[in-house]
Amino acid sequence: AKPVIVAIDGPSGTGKSSTSKAVAEQLGLSYLDTGAQYRAITWWMVTSGIDLTDPTAIAAVAGKPEIVSGTDPVKPTITVDGVDVSGPIRTEEVTSKVSAVSAVPEVRTRISELQRSLARAAADGIVVEGRDIGTTVLPDADLKVFLTASPEARAARRSGELKGADVNATREALVKRDAADSSRKTSPLAKAGDAVEVDTTELTLAQVIECVVTLVEEKR
Ligand code: C5P
Repeated sequence: AKPVIVAIDGPSGTGKSSTSKAVAEQLGLSYLDTGAQYRAITWWMVTSGIDLTDPTAIAAVAGKPEIVSGTDPVKPTITVDGVDVSGPIRTEEVTSKVSAVSAVPEVRTRISELQRSLARAAADGIVVEGRDIGTTVLPDADLKVFLTASPEARAARRSGELKGADVNATREALVKRDAADSSRKTSPLAKAGDAVEVDTTELTLAQVIECVVTLVEEKR
């Protein structure tokens, strides 16, 4: 069978990662978390003392760190200059700064190239999750899914993951990040015209996975 390319986009807290990993695992496909790549370059910039209020400073070093993503859905990995950053990229500091870094066009060009080359290399196909995969990175994807959920549902899921985080604070941070990601000039978070929208508010994770697996199988 020819490799199948699946793009899964949407705001945070919609179950993109859990769904994408499970779908890739069930169907024997590779998996790429593009948010982790933007977090990794943000982590590197924070660690390197780059002024993140200055897009020119960000652009000037966008090509410096070497970011490597492992695409096994069971054990996805991410390194920066050989260092495993899978833990540090999930801190609140990185989460609060990633939108400023990912809005810089030089950063997006660089990271999008990594994404396209990983997608090309996936022999059996790949599930790529992010914000602009269906619109910009892989516009020829075989299937595009856009996951949504109410802000309340998204905040509840995210604070569940963060074990004990305050739901209201989580919702505020999440809404703010989505607004920044949706309003930036270069490839904002958006639903592609040919994407299938799945509202996950009233669905269990298992139901969302089943729905996407069925959509992929229809394309194969
Ligand atoms: O998915 P996750 O919440 O880990 O993404 C972190 C951030 O990375 C997003 O808030 C967004 O700023 C950026 N991102 C992006 N384009 C993508 C994936 C993520 O700009 N394709």
